[in-house]
Amino acid sequence: MNKKPIVAGNWKMNKHPKEGFSFVDEIQDLLLDINHVSVIFAPPFTGLFEMNVNPPFYSAAQNCHWENSGAFTGEISVSMIKDCGANYVIIGHSERRHIFKESDDWVNKKLISVINNGLNPILCVGETLDQRESGQTDQVLHDQLEKGLVGIDSIKDCIIAYEPVWAIGTGLTAENKQIELAHKAIQDIVSSILKGANDFQILYGGSVNSGNAEDLIQVSGVDGFLIGGASLDVESFTSIARTVEMVQEKKI
Ligand code: PGA
Repeated sequence: MNKKPIVAGNWKMNKHPKEGFSFVDEIQDLLLDINHVSVIFAPPFTGLFEMNVNPPFYSAAQNCHWENSGAFTGEISVSMIKDCGANYVIIGHSERRHIFKESDDWVNKKLISVINNGLNPILCVGETLDQRESGQTDQVLHDQLEKGLVGIDSIKDCIIAYEPVWAIGTGLTAENKQIELAHKAIQDIVSSILKGANDFQILYGGSVNSGNAEDLIQVSGVDGFLIGGASLDVESFTSIARTVEMVQEKKI
């Protein structure tokens, strides 16, 4: 696999459009010399329209509906997201699954719609603390992936994000060994569902910050990050992107 590592910022429900645009401009200026990393901004829907990004910078939506249009009050379709110039859509984030009760079936429909519209899904999976403590982590990952990937023939356009729910926004990061094992489990599960598929990236998410990024990006199987809190601040987000760039440069 010859894909650049990814540093993706999930802004969640933060930053008004103007604030977001100037944030993105500032980051692109500060990271002009970045070559070995893809940087993704995922603003709220209102910030997607007219966001001005150029590779290696990309934009992403945080959610979508699977139908292209229709009577779905409050929803946004993938073709609308595509029209705004976005390349990626985050699907099945734990906040969507837990707060908004999104089912695996919905996650799957969204994933299929993203792929059919020619965009790249970032499919989030991860266990709760209870599930980890009762030894169910691998089973949860298996269920989420098996149900999320129903009807998919190829994984090559998908990115998987491993985000242990207990590490999101808590300041608790999973230990390196836990991350390595979970990423290996995801690789094995996807490869068994999709007959040997291995040409996809797995991001880690959960309290990534400028202090732990260098350590985490070197964990085996980690191809980048999905970052919440630390993606909202110019200094911490650029520092994480630079760290990943530096580690990647040493590899090539
Ligand atoms: P966090 O969020 O970095 O604030 O833990 C990660 C995420 O929700 O994707």
